[in-house]
Amino acid sequence: MSGGCSSTTRPSTPIISGQTRIVGVIGWPVAHSVSPAMHNAAFRALGLDWCYVPFPVHPERLAQALAGVRGLGLGGINATVPHKQALLPLVDELTPEARAVGAVNTVMVKDETLVGHNTDVGGFLRALGEAGFDARGCAALVLGAGGAARAVVYALARVGAHLTILNRTASRACDLAREFASGSQGTATVVSAEARLEGGSLDEQTLRRAAPQARLIVNTTSLGMWPEVETSPWIEGVPFPADALLFDLVYNPRETLFMRQARTGGARAVDGLRMLVHQGAEAFELWTGVQPPVEVMYAACTAALGGS
Ligand code: ATR
Repeated sequence: MSGGCSSTTRPSTPIISGQTRIVGVIGWPVAHSVSPAMHNAAFRALGLDWCYVPFPVHPERLAQALAGVRGLGLGGINATVPHKQALLPLVDELTPEARAVGAVNTVMVKDETLVGHNTDVGGFLRALGEAGFDARGCAALVLGAGGAARAVVYALARVGAHLTILNRTASRACDLAREFASGSQGTATVVSAEARLEGGSLDEQTLRRAAPQARLIVNTTSLGMWPEVETSPWIEGVPFPADALLFDLVYNPRETLFMRQARTGGARAVDGLRMLVHQGAEAFELWTGVQPPVEVMYAACTAALGGS
């Protein structure tokens, strides 16, 4: 599906006018992103004279790209891999969330000031709420300790969850748990006093010990993501707790091997597409000030991923 943003005369395609506001996504690579389809569908549905463009930005060109956002008067920008962390020192201001997570996925331009936001946090919590899950005080198991884990760990710590972070490289999980518990980057002031965090190794023995207590299990690793669809972070033979919810951040494919493993164990599993949509919806509202058409955005993502 195209972003729907050319000036050809197909009836469903918006025309660029003299007043069109431009937003977009910077990434390297960026061609796989479904965000252009998602946001342009939302602009079309609301009749807004806005357009969302993919910008392939090499890491060495990030500062220049950001200067371009300001210089060209763009409405804002999303950032994806590998720019989320690198944007931190390049924006003028950070929200407490972006500072605590240590990543910016949305830049808003406010009176020529570039403000770095992190809408992954709200996107995750909203998607969790939609799945009917109340994470306050719950025992949660987070698999992975990379960039994607940071927003999830922060979000869960903020609502007072008791977190066990397990990672192939155990030291990264321990460092992440320590950071959010002790408040480097000011995180202790924004996470709940009820939150408990510990880190460990993603090995069979540790997983067997941690799994039975967990009410929520979140996969933040890239395992299971296309094209590595036959991989999973769940270790073969460890029973999946039947009354837990699996939240897999992967959304391509829509059903991962991990989700099948959880369902076979009798558990409920949700994919990462609602989180993707909600982080996009929050960015949309920041830029336009207009309530986002969430279901239109969801349908556009589903179609862009080849679903119906
Ligand atoms: P992202 O920003 O997408 O989170 P990342 O920072 O590279 O990317 O983190 C990827 C996560 O997936 C890490 O937790 C990584 O584990 P390591 O810290 O040990 O590298 C995890 N991961 C990636 N490939 C993995 C594999 N084959 N087995 C287990 N974990 C893996």
